[in-house]
Amino acid sequence: AVIRRADYAQPAFLIDSVALEFDLVPERTIVKNTMRLRRNPDGAPGARLELMGEALELVSVALNGVPHAEHRAHEHGLTVENLPDAFELTIVSACQPAENTTLSGLYVSSGNFFTQCEAEGFRRITYFLDRPDVMAIYTVTLRADKAAYPVLLSNGNLVEEGELPDGRHFAKWEDPFKKPSYLFALVAGKLVAIEERIRSGSGKEKLLQVWVEPHDLDKTRHAMDSLINSIRWDEARFGLELDLDRFMIVAVSDFNMGAMENKGLNIFNTKYVLANPETATDTDFANVEAVVGHEYFHNWTGNRITCRDWFQLSLKEGLTVFRDQEFSADMQGGDTDEAARAVKRIEDVRALRQFQFAEDAGPMAHPVRPESYVEINNFYTMTVYEKGAEVVRMYQTLFGRDGFRRGMDLYFKRHDGQAVTCDDFRLALADANGRDLTQFERWYSQAGTPRVSVRTAYDSAQRRYAVTLTQHYGDCAPAARETQTGPLLIPFALGLIGRDGRDVPLRLEGETQAAGTTRVLELTEAEQTFTFVDVAEAPLPSLLRNFSAPVVVEYDYTNDELAFLLAHDSDPFNRWEAGQRLATRELLALTARAAASEPLSLDDSVVAAFARVLTDESLSPAFRELALILPSEAYLAEQMAESNPAAVHAARQFMRKRLATALRAEWLAVYERHTASGPYEPTPKATGHRALKNLALAYLAELDDPVDAIRLANAQYDAANNMTDRAAALAALLAAATTAGAAAAQPALDDFYRRFENEPLVIDKWFAMQAMQRGSLDRRIIDVVGKLMAHPAFTLRNPNRARSLIFSFCTHNPAQFHAEDGSGYAFWAEQVIALDALNPQVAARLARSLELWRRYTPALRERMREALERVASQVKSRDVREVVEKALA
Ligand code: ARG
Ligand code: ZN
Repeated sequence: AVIRRADYAQPAFLIDSVALEFDLVPERTIVKNTMRLRRNPDGAPGARLELMGEALELVSVALNGVPHAEHRAHEHGLTVENLPDAFELTIVSACQPAENTTLSGLYVSSGNFFTQCEAEGFRRITYFLDRPDVMAIYTVTLRADKAAYPVLLSNGNLVEEGELPDGRHFAKWEDPFKKPSYLFALVAGKLVAIEERIRSGSGKEKLLQVWVEPHDLDKTRHAMDSLINSIRWDEARFGLELDLDRFMIVAVSDFNMGAMENKGLNIFNTKYVLANPETATDTDFANVEAVVGHEYFHNWTGNRITCRDWFQLSLKEGLTVFRDQEFSADMQGGDTDEAARAVKRIEDVRALRQFQFAEDAGPMAHPVRPESYVEINNFYTMTVYEKGAEVVRMYQTLFGRDGFRRGMDLYFKRHDGQAVTCDDFRLALADANGRDLTQFERWYSQAGTPRVSVRTAYDSAQRRYAVTLTQHYGDCAPAARETQTGPLLIPFALGLIGRDGRDVPLRLEGETQAAGTTRVLELTEAEQTFTFVDVAEAPLPSLLRNFSAPVVVEYDYTNDELAFLLAHDSDPFNRWEAGQRLATRELLALTARAAASEPLSLDDSVVAAFARVLTDESLSPAFRELALILPSEAYLAEQMAESNPAAVHAARQFMRKRLATALRAEWLAVYERHTASGPYEPTPKATGHRALKNLALAYLAELDDPVDAIRLANAQYDAANNMTDRAAALAALLAAATTAGAAAAQPALDDFYRRFENEPLVIDKWFAMQAMQRGSLDRRIIDVVGKLMAHPAFTLRNPNRARSLIFSFCTHNPAQFHAEDGSGYAFWAEQVIALDALNPQVAARLARSLELWRRYTPALRERMREALERVASQVKSRDVREVVEKALA
């Protein structure tokens, strides 16, 4: 069944309060749910109450304390009839947490109880109006065996705890804020916490806890520090204070997503909580900080103001991703160091382009605010999250930080405690800034990646420079096409660079004097010309500075112009962008030649441009590393009219080898210069040095004779005092082994396993590195993956482990996955079908790795279609069916 945004109707009943009592037993947990309900004065009339319920066993129903026979349990819930206007309903039901492999609802992981309710998991715990516009006050009583479950947690404040007969105990929690059911949580088990007490902005004392299994206690400091930094940042940037006396984070190793913002009781995938130098890389540290921030920021943007319905998901996710991106950028460099902040921006844009643009180009393309869905879990997407964050960022680009803050203040003033829509947010931003943002709604309703073509004309006699911008969607996916109704309001930031490499002060026609060197042009028509006056010489345009809108810019720079921008642009983002354009252009040309089996060659001037970045010690190491990584194979394949992963791989490898060979001495020098001694520090500066040094090692591993890389990597592996260096050394050895033979990496690979056997997150890396390694003619990675599937440490039931091996291969090793014989696709089909029976959400994610099948070469396309059809004929879940049916449609 398709759910449509246009069909939204208010609930017929409202729930004011809920008292939940749990008797927690893994095999059969009994839940007693006592609700105060009343008819919704604005809801549709009708006598019956339709409660949602799934995988529940109904035990009893009572109305105002009296057994009530007029009810009927069915596949989707419980219908109760003959009800007064206001009443108390008590429902007792049972569920089976130990059997719950979906990881939605109440489940057991490593012997402890956890819940995941967003989006529709609460209905797997009890019968309820499980929709975000029904907000209630919750009281939760947990009862369980004390020895097995010494810790009992739920949302809000602990109000009572004590002993019960038979070695059992109980805890009672009250959440003072009303909330939708998707924010409910409980945790019970053998856990320990680190604690901090801090004073929030207004001076109130707050208890902060990070709960983990006992052996992980030494990996909680960074999450705690990140939480404290998040609290401080939200106070400083948005004036938003923690509203509870107590805030808890709990780590669980079996988790479908990254983390969950349950009120006062955030539940996290261990991957985004646990970090210490020995087990976590710099990237892991940054991810923990970002996700802790993200979930904490949801407390206001998501929890205090929530979504009216799930079509509004980006209301909380786009906004909260934007907030976490700004937080991370500020933690990189303080809120003023633009070059440091740009590092975060570059990483975010790179991910957006690689994954969200791809989503927009396929059968799952949807607007930031989708119009329909079959399974809402399939819409926790790059579009809703990352493109949604770009949409929020555009308000800030249009109105500035202060204007954005004014809009946020008005949003909270108007809607605190409510369940609202994306329109409500847009109107708050518009009203606070005295603007009409009607046209801006199209960013929420139109799918597809907009393109802006740029034409420029310099008139030396008049000293005028005209920039003509044209917006269009190119030849986009049909799913996107049908949503498009008209031009967007595109904030297009631009600068002009003179021959001396300096920014030109900008004066638009009609202005009396020049102001600033970056201007945000507002493109509102299909085509518009902006004319700059007083321009002394033909400038070079720096377009879409800091990526001011989620669009593709079409402009024909020459290679020399790109090299100039790479050397001079004052906008750090565009400096990086120039290098990427240069590399992308060369790589696509190389790919075409590789596809036609023609010889490959790379111009010396391109090598020289990269050499300048590599040796420019005035640039930060973090920036240089980002500039020297070539665009990914997936991104490049996506740029082709017909994706050819093998040719892309050959081209990219050729360029990597060429840069490695031509700049061997420089890479070696950079390796030495940026190798630090002394204790590990997770600071942005130290992280940048490690990143650049390890990139140098990776390039050296590409040499035909990688002796240097093998020697350096082995030494680095043995001496490493942190996971960043150890993992990079192992990755370099695996890369070198492609030419030097598998024996080059085997000792380190074996040592890595033994050393970290008891650290699941590190063993995930061990699986992932092997699944992502390069193959060769006599060594197919599908065979390596096949063997690893039988490894005793592999299990399909743990999503992190499944992702580390299967997803790493299917989505991060395109050249091997898209092998011509279709072996990758057969493997994919088998795993999607196996996962479908266990965990539909994870299965549906994997299913998506073939959705762009129509864009590949004919031979691959045909094999992908066969695999998709095989899956379509066998899967059971709504989740996977939606994905494969849309792909085949
Ligand atoms: N709200 C969570 C976050 O972004 C994501 C939870 C999504 N879970 C799901 N099963 N769809 O922080
Ligand atoms: Zn979120």
